[in-house]
Amino acid sequence: MIGESNWIVEGSFDRPLTIPYVSNGSASLNAQFSVSELLKGKSSTTLSYANGLLGPTIRANTGETVNVSLQNSLSEETNIHWHGLILPENMDGHPRDVASPGGSLNYSLPVIQRAGTYWYHPHPHGLTAKQVFLGLAGMFIINDAEESALNLPSGEFEIPVIIQDKHFEGNNLEYSPNDDEIMTGYLGEQILVNGQHAPFVNVASRWYRLRVLNGSTARVYNLGLTGGANLIVIGSDGGLLRTPETVSNIMLGPGERLDVLIDFSDLAVGKEIYLVSNKFSEFNVQGRQAFSLLKFKVDREGTSDFTLPSTLSNISALSESLSVKTRTIDIAQTIGGEGGHGGMGRHSINGKIFEMDRVDETVSAGTTEIWEFDNLAGDEIHPMHIHGVQFQVLERMGARNKVIASEKGWKDTILLMPGEKVRVIMTFPNYTGVFVFHCHNLEHEDDGMMLNYKII
Ligand code: C2O
Ligand code: CU
Ligand code: CU
Repeated sequence: MIGESNWIVEGSFDRPLTIPYVSNGSASLNAQFSVSELLKGKSSTTLSYANGLLGPTIRANTGETVNVSLQNSLSEETNIHWHGLILPENMDGHPRDVASPGGSLNYSLPVIQRAGTYWYHPHPHGLTAKQVFLGLAGMFIINDAEESALNLPSGEFEIPVIIQDKHFEGNNLEYSPNDDEIMTGYLGEQILVNGQHAPFVNVASRWYRLRVLNGSTARVYNLGLTGGANLIVIGSDGGLLRTPETVSNIMLGPGERLDVLIDFSDLAVGKEIYLVSNKFSEFNVQGRQAFSLLKFKVDREGTSDFTLPSTLSNISALSESLSVKTRTIDIAQTIGGEGGHGGMGRHSINGKIFEMDRVDETVSAGTTEIWEFDNLAGDEIHPMHIHGVQFQVLERMGARNKVIASEKGWKDTILLMPGEKVRVIMTFPNYTGVFVFHCHNLEHEDDGMMLNYKII
């Protein structure tokens, strides 16, 4: 299918959206095969953490410790990485820390950071993409006092939206990227939200909050609403922005999160609008088609006393003068070394492919550095992610040539389109040890586009 300009198969948007169940604080997860209705009226075999769809949404408050047990009921290794969380080395889900088939792991996660929409997924090297694609992923939401004071829409008015594209053979998911699909990323024809193809959700005419996660292995979305409605971006990977940003379109790469408000107040009962992905490129196979993901049906009058605050959060900008070192990270080369674990090893970082025990960069705890991800000469899309830290985006050069609305706060994953270079700044935490950074196109990651860095 790759190369064709219209490949997304839209459904009928007549199935009510499923909301993953919430686990407050600690959780027991069991990575297992299960059966789910991903496509309307059909049963598919999937992977799940909880006998059903995906995994529970784990919720915690800043200052708490969350305990999670993981049982591995698969026939291969697995583990969990807590994407966006700042954790001790042995809790981060480095690919060397895995549970064997039939084995288990216990995670004790001290929550020391601000409110935000984080997530979790497997990270065994060479198997990450497949396990995420088949269904292992969940949200991890942190709340804190600063955010609660804003009185944002909550409860049934706060909707998790996990977006993933899937490829089916018959009724079942099929994960079998060929060489070309390892280059572009594995792109599916059906877009699922919370594990369901083409769902709808009934809404009241009032404000809603959507916590959006791009949990796809490789697909980028250019999100917007139909009917001229705007998205009001209030947060991204690492929590709230300083001020709300109103946009008609916003790009979201694999691994990134978007916290948005939508005001349905002026819509009459009976009105329907869609969350869509708009075209973003004529040249890239991914960007040529617009398609719908989720339908909102206004089915009742709403009341709400919510008013959009003009200030959301106090974020102080990390000054470039604090930086003790600038590193250039070359991600544009597509001919790597010897052959990666999961693929051909054609994706590299600084000319190297992942090796479990080699330390590639060494940084000092508590110091601030600037990293420049350089895709200026590249012709592929690379969403770059750093474990164990949150960063701020200083500048994007080349192609889009600007920092977009969702990049004005804290980030852990940054989208680089072909011909772009992005500079980010971060202060490393006091957790010493070895962490990874990698491309969050999971086909690229499994192909070896990942390195170790050590905090000393
Ligand atoms: Cu969400 Cu190492 O990744
Ligand atoms: Cu991560
Ligand atoms: Cu990549």
